[in-house]
Amino acid sequence: MIICHKKEDLRRAIDGLRRENQTLGFVPTMGALHDGHLSLIRKGLEENSRMVVSIFVNPTQFDNTIDLEKYPRSLEKDLELLQSLSKDIIVYAPVADDIYGNAVVSEHFDFSGLENQMEGRFRKGHFDGVGTVVKRLFEIVQPDIAYFGKKDFQQFRIIQELIKKHQIPVQVKGVEIFRDKDGLALSSRNERLSKAQREAAPFIYKTLKAARKRFGTESVNKITEWVEKQFAQHDLLTLEYFTIADEVSLKTVRRKTKTKSYRAFIAVFAGDIRLIDNIALN
Ligand code: PAF
Repeated sequence: MIICHKKEDLRRAIDGLRRENQTLGFVPTMGALHDGHLSLIRKGLEENSRMVVSIFVNPTQFDNTIDLEKYPRSLEKDLELLQSLSKDIIVYAPVADDIYGNAVVSEHFDFSGLENQMEGRFRKGHFDGVGTVVKRLFEIVQPDIAYFGKKDFQQFRIIQELIKKHQIPVQVKGVEIFRDKDGLALSSRNERLSKAQREAAPFIYKTLKAARKRFGTESVNKITEWVEKQFAQHDLLTLEYFTIADEVSLKTVRRKTKTKSYRAFIAVFAGDIRLIDNIALN
């Protein structure tokens, strides 16, 4: 496995290995790799002749310094996991300088309003940070196909918008959410949950599934009120938002239309740990 810390080394590694008619797949990550990341990388390995995985905890996408400081970092373990998956992976694990130079700041993006919904409302500047780093990573890696997990569905939609607006020649693929046996969507943040919080967390997906069941017969308002009530009664989990939105515009819906696809989106705190999830409704 090739490990590069500098973009010049990465470029050299890619150029040296790339042959005609071969495709380069890419999975950007912030490390603390789990089975969710591995499912993206496995898909990439199946579909491409070469794979790049980046590991970089991007400071500009955190609106909260404590969250950034506490974000799990486990480079050694991550490299072992990747090595066991395939020796053909090229890892790019830079320090902030390599991506940002000496100005660790975000560009400002217009994602046609997608950035103002849900996560964008509750995490100021988050998607400017994500857009900045992903755009730079695309410039550095120059992949043919990039893979994003649908757990961060809004991020996936925003990356689709980023490549469209900036005419970046990358195909973006969304990969289904990877869940533990009890339904909890895998996330690097799950590592920080206490035993009791971890035991409580599957309640999030359970509630999403119940909301999906109600979606056929009940109004969006009624379902939203019901979900809010479930969390108000919960000792360990605090609801930040629950919303049913159009899958394309990500705008909250009040009235359903048969021709559109909807998803329910949720953000929940377990102590100071923030968990998000979503589910397709129709
Ligand atoms: O989803 C993530 O882990 C991050 O937002 C990403 C896409 C790697 C950008 O830092």
